[in-house]
Amino acid sequence: MTMRVTIIGAGMMGRGIGTRAVCGGHDVEILDRDPAEARALADQLTGLGRGSSTADDEGRVTGEVVVLALPYQAGALYAEQVAGKVVVDVSNPVDFASMDRLLTPPDLSAAEELAQEFGDDTFVVKAFNTTFAATLVDGQVDGQPLDVLLAGDDESAKHRVAQLVLDGGMRAIDAGPLRRARQLEHLGFLHMALQGRMEWGFQSAVKFLR
Ligand SMILES: NC(=O)c1ccc[n+]([C@@H]2O[C@H](COP(=O)([O-])OP(=O)(O)OC[C@H]3O[C@@H](n4cnc5c(N)ncnc54)[C@H](OP(=O)(O)O)[C@@H]3O)[C@@H](O)[C@H]2O)c1
Repeated sequence: MTMRVTIIGAGMMGRGIGTRAVCGGHDVEILDRDPAEARALADQLTGLGRGSSTADDEGRVTGEVVVLALPYQAGALYAEQVAGKVVVDVSNPVDFASMDRLLTPPDLSAAEELAQEFGDDTFVVKAFNTTFAATLVDGQVDGQPLDVLLAGDDESAKHRVAQLVLDGGMRAIDAGPLRRARQLEHLGFLHMALQGRMEWGFQSAVKFLR
């Protein structure tokens, strides 16, 4: 079933997730603090797949699923607009000054912080933080579909995000409740930290095999 997906943030992750969503046949709406950036990305996504892509200059959030493709802590600015929605947090709350730690307390994740900020009627799902933007454009690395790890407390919200992942040609892995976002954010950080050491150029993927 076609979903309407609002992506806030027309940067690299907005482009990667938007590409997967349009290829999966969904209708994507791009919002950005710079409406020209939102329009430019919406134009780039148009025609990539069966879905559609538009931008809204007024910043209205009409999607049933909202992806916050924004830096850590910027998502909280949209609390009013996303109230009552399924909200996807993709952030890695890395301390970019030191590249040596996360900015969140050890017993909390960025996703849980957002859930506290948004309140009980908004359903936060952690997803896509372990997949790099460039790899999302293709949805695969080395011929293998990306694994997208999810965490969330609302099963129906998580199911909807999992469907978005599957429709985009990737594999969804349910890691459990929202508190598992703590481990997902550490995994995202580790994956980033390995890029320079292994010279992977942010083209690698975290993949679970059995
Ligand atoms: N890049 C990756 O491979 C990757 C992988 C996993 C997770 N992530 C996470 O994804 C999120 C987005 O990363 P990205 O790589 O897409 O970054 P990006 O390319 O810099 O895009 C970020 C977007 O957010 C906007 N923005 C920045 N600060 C804002 C604010 N205070 N209020 C409203 N909008 C704001 C930017 O607008 P301007 O252009 O006007 O600054 C831009 O449109 C981050 O949390 C990152 O940790 C990234």
